[in-house]
Amino acid sequence: MPDPSKINVLLIGSGAREHAIAWKLRQSPRLGQLFTANPENPGISALAAPADVLLDPKNTMRLQNFCLANRVQLAVIGPEEPLAAGLSDALLGEQSMAGKSSGGLKGCVQAVFGPSQAAAQLESDKAFSKELMRSSLIPTADARTFTDFGAAKAYLESRESAQVIKAAGLAKGKGVFVPASLPEAIAALEQIMVKKAFGAAGDKVVIEERLKGREVSVFALVDGKNIFMLDACQDHKRLGDGATGPNTGGMGSLCPSPALDERLLAKIERDVVVPTIDALRRDGIEYRGVLYVGLMLTPAGPKVLEYNVRFGDPECQVLMSRLQGDLVEIMLATGSRGLDKVDLSFRPGAAVCVVLAAQGYPDNPRTGQVITGIDEARQVEGVEVFMGGVRRDAEGRLVTAGGRVLSVTAVGADVNEARKRAYAAADRIQFEGKVLRRDIGTDVVG
Ligand code: AMP
Ligand code: GLY
Repeated sequence: MPDPSKINVLLIGSGAREHAIAWKLRQSPRLGQLFTANPENPGISALAAPADVLLDPKNTMRLQNFCLANRVQLAVIGPEEPLAAGLSDALLGEQSMAGKSSGGLKGCVQAVFGPSQAAAQLESDKAFSKELMRSSLIPTADARTFTDFGAAKAYLESRESAQVIKAAGLAKGKGVFVPASLPEAIAALEQIMVKKAFGAAGDKVVIEERLKGREVSVFALVDGKNIFMLDACQDHKRLGDGATGPNTGGMGSLCPSPALDERLLAKIERDVVVPTIDALRRDGIEYRGVLYVGLMLTPAGPKVLEYNVRFGDPECQVLMSRLQGDLVEIMLATGSRGLDKVDLSFRPGAAVCVVLAAQGYPDNPRTGQVITGIDEARQVEGVEVFMGGVRRDAEGRLVTAGGRVLSVTAVGADVNEARKRAYAAADRIQFEGKVLRRDIGTDVVG
């Protein structure tokens, strides 16, 4: 007989973020079986059994059958694409935005960690989120939305201050341009609207004022009813030391962020998170999952840069490293209006994550390089190594297979100890062309 207190979990997503989630789920006494929809990641497949499923919200038969046959009660969706496509609705047997329910089948899981398609518009449609912020007076950059290239160009030419240009749809983190001049701004607009570099994601464009200040990543668990603010993180987005070079998905992270004290975090909860969730509710949309708000701390106060409807990567790695509490219970509670009943806290001290990237990242990462030293790195006190762009080759060796290869993550009594440990571990790992920043977790901004 299966133990009824144990929960079977299906995890969706293939990056270091999901490896960190799997690692934390594994520590839960409530975990029954853990299944992964992405066994191609060797870090995740060491912790979870492969689930032979198709992640297509329009064709959920196999997924549904898998969940029923294996008594999966909780599905955890890591990345934004399946959320924006309505996978959460499909798993719960609820109608998604196109009015499609999952083929008339009842929900196959008890709870999903990850919001509905309608709520995911906060990330998948920047015009939607701008309008929501405007109507609720949530502090953000002044912006206009365009569907016509000529009108957008004329608007850009009429602006005296610097502007930021954003494809409104999902563009794998590449749809935002911070141009240095007007010609560059127009070139970006052409890329998005005329050359369609991001396909339909560029049908609408948001042009907004450029903000100055320090960036922070704020995360809140939301269960439809309760909000729980997590410790804020710092993400280092630029490729090079001293915040130079191109923007990336994130070369490292630090938790807690030294830029936010409790008072400021409470202000962000009151002025941003609560009104955001309330505005959705007024439209009949209940938010369940983690809400990630990217903010700029400007001289006029914190302003929203973007919403994401998932954990950040590499912010998740530092959050999971410091999280105290049972992640199965926390995620189940988030999906089922029970957050007020779970214990959740963060271990004192700090966590630092140093990303080891492949040569050529972010434009053209080199793959197939043999990786050594992961076991030796894990022997450094307080260190975990989470795998992102890593695969096993035909001979069973670990090789690079993506831009951000490994997330070397350390906890410590303070940020200095965590940094030292993370770099001591990072230096034990070798692969040809390894790229890392040396200033993660220092005062450098960006
Ligand atoms: P987003 O995906 O909207 O967070 O944008 C990616 C990056 O572009 C952010 O992390 C910021 O560094 C930068 N960015 C976005 N919006 C603005 C803005 N209004 N002003 C200055 N920088 C911005
Ligand atoms: N670290 C930024 C992101 O996950 O979007």
